Amino acid sequence: MEILRIKGGHPISGEVQVSGSKNAALPQFAAALLSDQETILENVPDLSDIRFMGEILTHLGADVSRDGPNTWKIRPANIQPDAPYELVRKMRASICLLGPLVARLKRAKVPMPGGCVIGHRPIDLHLHALKEMGASISLNQGFVEVDGSDLHSVDIFIAGRHGSSVTGTANAIMAAVLTPGTTTLDGAACEPEIVDLCTMLTQMGARISGAGSHLLKIDGVDKLNGCTHRVIPDRIEAATYVMASAITRGKIKIKGIVPDHLGAFTKVMRESGVSMEKNLSLEMDVQTNKNGLLPFEIITLPYPGFPTDLQAQACALACTVPGLSILTERVYPSRFMHIPELLRMGAEVSLEGANAIVRGGKPLNGAPVMASDLRASAALILAGLVAEGETWVHRIYHLDRGYELLDQKLQNLGAEVERMPEEALPPAFRSPAA
Ligand code: EPU
Repeated sequence: MEILRIKGGHPISGEVQVSGSKNAALPQFAAALLSDQETILENVPDLSDIRFMGEILTHLGADVSRDGPNTWKIRPANIQPDAPYELVRKMRASICLLGPLVARLKRAKVPMPGGCVIGHRPIDLHLHALKEMGASISLNQGFVEVDGSDLHSVDIFIAGRHGSSVTGTANAIMAAVLTPGTTTLDGAACEPEIVDLCTMLTQMGARISGAGSHLLKIDGVDKLNGCTHRVIPDRIEAATYVMASAITRGKIKIKGIVPDHLGAFTKVMRESGVSMEKNLSLEMDVQTNKNGLLPFEIITLPYPGFPTDLQAQACALACTVPGLSILTERVYPSRFMHIPELLRMGAEVSLEGANAIVRGGKPLNGAPVMASDLRASAALILAGLVAEGETWVHRIYHLDRGYELLDQKLQNLGAEVERMPEEALPPAFRSPAA
């Protein structure tokens, strides 16, 4: 296995280009199955999760090929409805196959997603939407089997206790676009990734209104065409670079950023003392105010609230800001696996239920740390950028699921980050499995 070795202490500077959004691209691969014609997806980030999705589509019978690292061609002329456990279990986003398979083939068999390190992630809202539309659903030997031969349009409230569901909304939209009549989805997610999915589906011939609001109206059509669609830039990656700049008190230009997609994140950063100035379209200059940063409070919420996918990185940043910062998780109340690793670096953080209370300002020390998931990996790397001495981040396969070339992009910004085999470490610092 590979690790990242980071030598902390260098403010980053220069320009960085944001890649396409993972969480926009994944449901779009599934959406390509709604037509029997070719779909071309451009600006797709080159990530292991995307490659898994490509393999799953191939297993389903689609002809999938790549034209360079970031362009995928999907020709799903003949597909079948059974998704393979071995591939699907590696990635929860494959639940997005349910909607398109049921819409196009009237049948789907998809493994029930398993446990997840960031907390309990049920799919009841996905199934509720399909049931309301007339699907009959059973669970057999760990597979969700859906019979959608009687799908019909209906008015559905699709949010749950924690608010709207992003992939649940994606599934309901994709099931509705080929269902006769007008389906109304109230309590729908309004994340930019959902808007981008609606843009792609509209290009394919779907009739959707209300994208970007909590109320979607979908008029079913008989057939969809293929299309060529360019995936939006990754707002979570962009915001991670904002925080990399802030944590090192650096000064960078971020290219390919859509400032409007950052929602509450921008307000929190500006109030803390990070200047984020958009200049040209899709470009932003980021630097820390001369007087340093102020502690901050965040509550993670669905868009446009502060994204849960930035909470771990914000926690690392808070560790370097003198004073008390409070981070409250409302989306995944137990998504705090990064905290024990930050403590190993000398951070002072206590956890009270779903609140992380950070006493920031004490210098961090480099240490061997273990990444538990994608965003925790990013948080540990950010902490490593300012820690005294060397930080070794283990299990960076989590990072490779969702950040395209993060280590190379940070190197280009002047950070001392190096990818190396775990075996290069002294034996005492290798993980037990290495
Ligand atoms: N929820 C339910 N029932 C459901 C579905 C969700 O109760 O059927 C709850 C969840 O437990 C959670 C909340 O609703 O408390 C929101 O979950 P959501 O369904 O929106 O999450 P998701 O669609 O499974 C996507 C992203 C996640 C991101 C969340 C929240 C993709 C592929 N994944 O997941 O991304 O954290 O939305 O914004 O789009 C990541 O990129 O690191 C990541 C985990």
